[in-house]
Amino acid sequence: LKINKVVKKTRDFVQKMKETDKTVIFFYGSQTGTAEDYAARLAKEGTQRYNLKTMTADLEDYDMNLLDTLPSDHLAVFVLATYGEGEPTDNAVDFWEHLVSGEDVPEFSIGDYEDSDKPLTNLHFVLFGLGNKTYEHYNSVCRRVEERFMQLGASRIGDRGEGDDDGSLEEDFLSWKDDMWKAVCDFMGIDFFAGSTGPRQATYKIQEYTAEEVKELKKVYHGEHQEPKFMLGSRPTYDSKNPFAAPISVSRGAFSATADRSCLHMEVDISGSGITYQAGDHIAIWPVNAEQEVEKLAKVLGLTDKLDTVLTVSNTDPASTKLPFPVPTTYRTVLRNYIDITAPPSRGFIGQLTTFAPSEEATKTFALWGQDKEAFRINVADARRSLGTTLEKIIGPGKTMEIPFDLLIESVPRIQARYYSISSSAKAHPTSIHLTAVVLNYKPSVAPEETVYGLATNFLHNCHGYINQSGAVEPKYEISGPRGAHIIGDHGVKVPIYVRHSNFKLPRNAALPVVMIGPGTGVAPFRGFIQDRAQDAKNGKKVGATVLFFGCRREDEDYLYKDEWPELMKDIEGAQVITALSRQPGVAKTYVQHKMDEHKELIWDLIHKQGGYFYVCGDAKNMAREVNHKLIEIAMSCGGMTEEKATTYVKELRGRGRYEEDVWL
Ligand code: FAD
Ligand code: 2AM
Repeated sequence: LKINKVVKKTRDFVQKMKETDKTVIFFYGSQTGTAEDYAARLAKEGTQRYNLKTMTADLEDYDMNLLDTLPSDHLAVFVLATYGEGEPTDNAVDFWEHLVSGEDVPEFSIGDYEDSDKPLTNLHFVLFGLGNKTYEHYNSVCRRVEERFMQLGASRIGDRGEGDDDGSLEEDFLSWKDDMWKAVCDFMGIDFFAGSTGPRQATYKIQEYTAEEVKELKKVYHGEHQEPKFMLGSRPTYDSKNPFAAPISVSRGAFSATADRSCLHMEVDISGSGITYQAGDHIAIWPVNAEQEVEKLAKVLGLTDKLDTVLTVSNTDPASTKLPFPVPTTYRTVLRNYIDITAPPSRGFIGQLTTFAPSEEATKTFALWGQDKEAFRINVADARRSLGTTLEKIIGPGKTMEIPFDLLIESVPRIQARYYSISSSAKAHPTSIHLTAVVLNYKPSVAPEETVYGLATNFLHNCHGYINQSGAVEPKYEISGPRGAHIIGDHGVKVPIYVRHSNFKLPRNAALPVVMIGPGTGVAPFRGFIQDRAQDAKNGKKVGATVLFFGCRREDEDYLYKDEWPELMKDIEGAQVITALSRQPGVAKTYVQHKMDEHKELIWDLIHKQGGYFYVCGDAKNMAREVNHKLIEIAMSCGGMTEEKATTYVKELRGRGRYEEDVWL
């Protein structure tokens, strides 16, 4: 047992800014690291191009009640992601609840203003939001924060920026920030043009980190996210910053895989961890990059022979204490476990690499792809080329180029966790969490000759291959699978996980009926829901009708958990699965919406007459929208409503928490 010293960090950011001589603070509300990365990039750019004294700050690390004490010649920049159904990220929940969802005007620490209703008159702020237009509440967190800041008397510097993850987040960000910097320079009394012509090219001069090789071998990190936080007398808490390394206890194909399509049912063991969950929650999993990607990039960078050399990373700014990952570590670990070399690199990074191009031709290509959005889109973004593949395409096969490793660490985002809807119920499986994941691979339309492998699902696929190849989970430090995954941990195949609690929950009163629409892997949380209700029924509770609409291609191909449903449902009165088959030979193509139509009287009876709950899970893009529309149609035909009334009716169901969605892209 390791006992870490608990070091008390100050929560007073104003004091910290004063002590470290900073005038601009970049707060981030980040779930998986993108907003944090954007905040860091902005802070760095502010320092490099405009000589601003900047710092970044995790919203949950500081006391946001002190916002009113920030001097009026200082600036607070907020980079805020909107998550799921318009929710703030985990690290922004307290800030959000205090500032936005509270009914009353927040009590800021010093209320010494002329107009006491407006406690934030001192505050000057800038906002950038990260969201996804597929979701109804697009960027609602940053919009609502802005509205609230304005109500409370704060002043906005420049226009709010919004990025759409469904379109091109990076392009939205890049096109917003130049105007933003102009406004910030105006506010801070800085010559914008001096910054944009002078140090702009020399972007590498002022660094956030320095990386250097070391001989120290006492403790070298090989993929750990953080030292577990043990405190005397208490259990460690596992969250997004401190994941639990969970052994994979079961891994099997969830349907009969074809050459290009497979789905995994996996169970991770959480016994002894103190982790709890409920059906409807999500499990987050950190993948590692495939070995082929690590080797390819190492080759391009000329690092092949030093992959196991130990290096350390330090902050160049003594005021910053955050490092991107635990150190000392090895080049191999950084490339494999910590930074996302699988995702396409950003346009900004490609542009920056022009300086390091090994040939004249490569210099031109770096400059073109870094500046021309269309060239970048076709060759990098839409082709979904990894960093190694992109560099190889630019400099030519077999060639190498030297990129300072600290620049790489600063510019390539860290690997982000992926979420999976938990497909078990804690009532039935208190010590394990189940997930159901379809293995992603596809041929991009702009480069149909190349196959792209989804990072997390192919990582899981490799774990699966390993577990089944060896027949059991064996102690092993490092493994390679068919597509080259490496697993952390010395006691079997372990994956770093944490549970994200959600609002996607069964009604408290089990006697109420539920209608669940879950085609494909959208069925995952409903397996948990049905296990939950089966357990209740076994315990003698009254359980209402439980109807699942499931959709797949063919009965003999991708029917998830087909053999489980009869056993699971036998104790629940009125439980049934209604199946839509979309590619069954000899049967007309049918989707879940078509089945809803066939069973509209049943749905209307359960939802409207019996006050039941309606759930949708799976594809956010088309299915969820079409199902919403189908329910409106049912309200019209079975409830005799006009379209307008039916639309309002369905909206109200959502408002009352009786129409819940768990959808993703
Ligand atoms: P990545 O390496 O992350 O690649 C995915 C990216 O590739 C996409 O974002 C897209 O940009 C691109 N892409 C994908 N297909 C194409 C294509 N045909 N053409 C061009 N580009 C493409 N997944 C499940 O399987 N089961 C679940 O239960 C589940 N639950 C989820 C719950 C939530 C709340 C969320 C947010 C997501 C859920 N997902 C689920 C999705 C999951 O998190 C991952 O996104 C998915 O498994 C792919 O991850 P990956 O790392 O393999 O792919
Ligand atoms: P398809 O692939 O044959 O089009 C799980 O992926 C199931 O969802 C498959 O049967 C798939 O059918 C179906 N599906 C695809 N698009 C859909 C949509 N817009 N609405 C409902 N189901 C859909």
